[in-house]
Amino acid sequence: NADPGIAEFKLEAGISQTEFTKGRLTPTLGYNGSYLGPVIRLVKGQDVSIVVENNLNEWTTIHWHGLVVDGENDGGPMQGIASGETWNAKFKVEQPASTLWYHPHFAGTVANQVYYGLAGLIYIDDEFTDTMSIPKDYGIDDIPLVVQDRNFNIDGSFDYRVSMMGVDKGDKILVNGTLDPYFIVKREKVRFRLLNGSNSQNFSFRLSNRAEFLMIASDGGFLEKPLKKEAIFLSPGERAEIVVDFSEFNDKSVKLVSNDDLILELVIDGELEKSPDIPEELAEVADIAADEASNTRIFELQSMGISGTINGKYYDMNRIDERVDLNATEYWIVRNVGGMMATGHPFHVHGTQFQVVSRNGEKPTPEESGHKDTVYVDVGEEVVIKVMFKKEGLFMYHCHILEHEDRGMMGQFIVE
Ligand code: C2O
Ligand code: CU
Ligand code: CU
Repeated sequence: NADPGIAEFKLEAGISQTEFTKGRLTPTLGYNGSYLGPVIRLVKGQDVSIVVENNLNEWTTIHWHGLVVDGENDGGPMQGIASGETWNAKFKVEQPASTLWYHPHFAGTVANQVYYGLAGLIYIDDEFTDTMSIPKDYGIDDIPLVVQDRNFNIDGSFDYRVSMMGVDKGDKILVNGTLDPYFIVKREKVRFRLLNGSNSQNFSFRLSNRAEFLMIASDGGFLEKPLKKEAIFLSPGERAEIVVDFSEFNDKSVKLVSNDDLILELVIDGELEKSPDIPEELAEVADIAADEASNTRIFELQSMGISGTINGKYYDMNRIDERVDLNATEYWIVRNVGGMMATGHPFHVHGTQFQVVSRNGEKPTPEESGHKDTVYVDVGEEVVIKVMFKKEGLFMYHCHILEHEDRGMMGQFIVE
């Protein structure tokens, strides 16, 4: 028997079929079954071992997006798992409560493998979450929402359309791998953990009745204080946790929408069970090294339709683009210099949680005040982030539009 101090998990990446529409089977991929994978629940301080088995007919890797672990356990393109092989990730959870996720990261096949279903959530709890007065009953008032756009063919198979121009937006939205999803609200306050798990689409989430809700967490964990919002923008890879108070709603049915897309139907079922008030202070967001950062680097993002470069270069696994000192804090200046058919880019850094210092020279908005691992940089924008490197090894930074990443909009840095 294993040491009780070690939390063990097993994930099998495999080929499956999923019945999104009654009577129609869609060829999919998934972890431990059909489309998507289980929520992996971790606790700060825990030693974790995750065995990943590759039952696909192709290479894969599995990357823990947002998890601060050393390069060898990060699951980037260097930790390829051949078909039929296994890989064992081992790490200690050292970061605060947060909602992270996992997905493949083998160079060139990420977009396809994620589109077909390889992704899942990671929840971290810490010493504060047990006693915090926030909704935390999984499936009752603490609800994951993995949001992904998809296109389907008439026979039920996915219609994944990519051209030189870009990716076609999906006509359908899957939430946790479900078409036309609804949620029956039974408590006054419900916490939704939103993940934009799409390959390339942005979402701007709001409620159909325009009611305000509270944003309580971003990528790296809780904000200092709950933030009143009417809408939340998430680019691919980003997360936000929100709490909706249904007790004041007159309508029995409200929708979570994004622009014109229906994301989730919310059905209020009779008398709502009471929920405690959300605390006015949520967590202390540790300021990353208040003293001067030791170095500044510039990252220029440029794209042409479906392909793009960072600092004029395409990804090369045999080239290390940046060398960083262990425990250094640096300013990274990320510029979207546009290009032909330019788009915004979600810039993601592995092995760290950073802070946004400025956006176009201005102080970031409160929703960007927490720790983050992915930040959206629109055409013409310049975002400065402060990054601390606490883990050794080889890591990636890249655009989280998965088609951009696969076509080389990615670089490597080594922390040593
Ligand atoms: Cu979510 Cu390098 O990825
Ligand atoms: Cu990542
Ligand atoms: Cu991009």
